[in-house]
Parts: sequence; C-alpha cells; structure tokens
Amino acid sequence: MTTQRTRPETMGENDVIDLLLAQHAMIRNLFDEVEQAAPDRRGEAFTRLVRLLAVHETAEEEIVHPYARLKIEGGDAVVDDRLAEENHAKELLQQMDQAGPEAPDFAEKLAVLRAAVEAHARSEERYEFPQLRGHTSEAERRSMALGVKAAEAMAPTHPHPGTESATKNVLMGTPIAMMDRVRDVIRQAMGKHG
Ligand SMILES: [Fe+2]
Ligand SMILES: [Fe+2]
Repeated sequence: MTTQRTRPETMGENDVIDLLLAQHAMIRNLFDEVEQAAPDRRGEAFTRLVRLLAVHETAEEEIVHPYARLKIEGGDAVVDDRLAEENHAKELLQQMDQAGPEAPDFAEKLAVLRAAVEAHARSEERYEFPQLRGHTSEAERRSMALGVKAAEAMAPTHPHPGTESATKNVLMGTPIAMMDRVRDVIRQAMGKHG
C-alpha cells in the first residue's frame, strides 16, 4: 500500500501537467513521511524518496523540459533556471545518501533538501507548467503523460522494506547512478542514444 502511494507511474492522471502536479504533492507527502518516520524506518522511507525524486526529475528533464524549451516564450531561460535548481537538489540528495539516514545531521539536511525541492516545484508550477499548458494541445499533453509514466515504470524499484542495504545498493546504487539508469531507459525507449 505504501509502495503504491509512492510509485508515480501508477497514477491515473492523463494530462502531463495534472500528472506532474500530483507528483509534486506525492513528493511533499513523502518528505512528511521521512520526517515523521521512526529511526528504524527512516532509511526505507528515504530510499523511496530518492527513487521518487530520481524518476520525477529525470522524466521532467528528458520529456517535459525539452518540450517547454521549444514551446513557451523565453523557454531556454525558464528551463535553464529549472535545471540549475534540479542539479542543486541532486547534489544535496547525493550528500545525504552518502552520509546515510543515521547521520547526526540527517534531519537538518533533510530540511534543507526539502526547502530546495519545494522551491523548485513552486517555480515549475509558476513559470513553466501554466505556460506549457497554454501552448500545447490536449493530445500533446496526453502523449507526454504516457511518456512520463512509461519512463517511470521502467525505472528500477526500491527494495522491500527490511532488506539489507547491500541489496539496496545492487538495486539502486547512489541517487546519481539511479538517475543515470532512469535516463538510459528513457533514452532507449525514445530511440535516442547517449
Ligand atoms: Fe523538476
Ligand atoms: Fe517537478
């Protein structure tokens, strides 16, 4: 049940903007869950947060931002700003993953990451998504939603709660490795190389 709630590829939204907004809400809920988790459940919840952020941001980077770049007014500047925010969040995520959920400053770092991710989501919701909605047809948004969900479904899943961290590393690796794998499957599916 918990798994379904944090698997963005299982969402029902058919319009890409509705889908991404729902994923932003899912991200906020999962931050709540990590914050409130008992110490022995924190690592598992954080692992799900890493996967959710990896698949969401990578799908945006591969499918949504390139389209926004072409379609919206001043698209290059808008998208470049979003990519810079995403890269900043990825660095924070990578540092937290390296330090592990038992790190003494985990809660502090989580608050910093959350602020960065939420500010980024608000910027997308303000400067990118409404403009993209205004410059695309329903059919385009439907096909982008299908692409985002298909890409997210191909991403590696998190291990079941309670499995050893060695298993986690085999399945997921670091957040950056995870994002690279998601990017690879998206590019293969879209027939791109590199
Ligand atoms: Fe994003
Ligand atoms: Fe987003």
